[in-house]
Amino acid sequence: RIAGPCALVIFGVTGDLARRKLMPAIYDLANRGLLPPGFALVGFARRDWSDEDFGKIVHDAVRDHSRTPFREDVWERLSEGLRFVKGTFDDPAAFQELANTLGTLERERGTGGNHGFYLAIPPDAFPVVLKQLSEAGLAQSNDDQWRRVVIEKPFGHDLESARELNAVVNEVFPEDTVFRIDHYLGKETVQNILALRFANQLFDPIWNAHYVDHVQITMAEDIGLGGRAGYYDGIGAARDVIQNHLLQLLAFTAMEEPISFEPSELQAEKIKVLSATRLAQPLDETTARGQYAGGWQGGTRVVGLLEEEGFSKDSTTETFAAITLEVDTRRWAGVPFYLRTGKRLGRRVTEIAVIFKRAPHLPFDQTMTEELGQNALVIRVQPDEGVTMRFGSKVPGSSMEVRDVNMDFSYGQAFTESSPEAYERLILDVLLGEPSLFPVNAEVELSWEILDPVLEHWAADGRPEPYEAGTWGPPSADEMMHRTGREWRRP
Ligand code: BG6
Repeated sequence: RIAGPCALVIFGVTGDLARRKLMPAIYDLANRGLLPPGFALVGFARRDWSDEDFGKIVHDAVRDHSRTPFREDVWERLSEGLRFVKGTFDDPAAFQELANTLGTLERERGTGGNHGFYLAIPPDAFPVVLKQLSEAGLAQSNDDQWRRVVIEKPFGHDLESARELNAVVNEVFPEDTVFRIDHYLGKETVQNILALRFANQLFDPIWNAHYVDHVQITMAEDIGLGGRAGYYDGIGAARDVIQNHLLQLLAFTAMEEPISFEPSELQAEKIKVLSATRLAQPLDETTARGQYAGGWQGGTRVVGLLEEEGFSKDSTTETFAAITLEVDTRRWAGVPFYLRTGKRLGRRVTEIAVIFKRAPHLPFDQTMTEELGQNALVIRVQPDEGVTMRFGSKVPGSSMEVRDVNMDFSYGQAFTESSPEAYERLILDVLLGEPSLFPVNAEVELSWEILDPVLEHWAADGRPEPYEAGTWGPPSADEMMHRTGREWRRP
């Protein structure tokens, strides 16, 4: 579907997110013909830029980061709708200027008075920007014109602050006009969890505690945190990605079938499963956290977190976190969900591994099944997108030896269609007013409710355990699994 007439305003247009993700995604949408002809993009920031200066910035961002090839005609059409408004967030005159600019665009380019406001700014700046939008009369939708706000995480740093933030946002924008970005939901492979589970007959009968032994959700990154101290120090891995991305992956994996893919039905199922999810106890046995020390990665020597620029020398921020969750439903009772994430790990990989129980009986000579592991279904979220099924197979030869083999589905081989980038899909959904892929405030608050106890536990627990860069995290993460007789997968 093509978006209808509208303008998108980006606050924080000089930041990294705008340059690396938002501007390129907007160009890619234009290139695919998914933006309306009179579309306008307005940047708002303190810089002393003209519309032309802003145009150059967008041009360079597009050239460096867009997915689709650069086409002069597409760029020309897009650049005609670029405007820049200079101002600070606390200056009512700047917001009046913004209102005037949007009014002019409405007349000249036919944006229809439909406006999206993308807050790519730190959350402590939300209250003032929201207030100004409201006072400039820009926030209220009516029957003919929509107004929507897009916000980026962090959605607070615990349950209490998330509630306060939601209240501040909802005071100006009603919940059905709030679009919270969790870019993992924009990934093809994440949306495909729903197709895999609910478009097939093959998996559902065994997708439960009768057959599943446990689930491992891994989001590993090889990058470190150089240059990100301002955001990350004091936040840590659990707040950065478990509260949002990994709990959303859990929700998609564990939820019941929605009645339909209407947004409210999907949200209802996610809310239900998150309400039934809690940390396994005791926390010092079922969780682990670590902080990367120096080491080697890809043949290069890298420094530890404490030597990264901007981090305090006694920072207790975790760069690795692992937790054990229980989902108290009939489907999942007794099945642990292990979630782990970390920076400077062995390699970049995100996957969901559903590990099945062993067959109740093996009618083979024991020596013939020594290399047989547990069956697994692995959803490879990235980078090598696809699904792997792991099961035992007879080794060719005269004896009945059985060994694990993989059956692979790979996006690259199965489809000629290319996947849109996550931000592309999500920005288009904002412009279309399609809220399915955006967590509502109840989900955000439930996720904090799940996580708060371990955050408090860790805060009282001193320093995270160091781990060498390029490894798979601290020893305590392995010990946590060994206590239940299990192992992390080595993707
Ligand atoms: C962001 C986190 O949400 O996701 C980053 O703040 C992380 O710390 C990033 O690096 C990873 O995104 P992706 O799409 O590369 O897996």
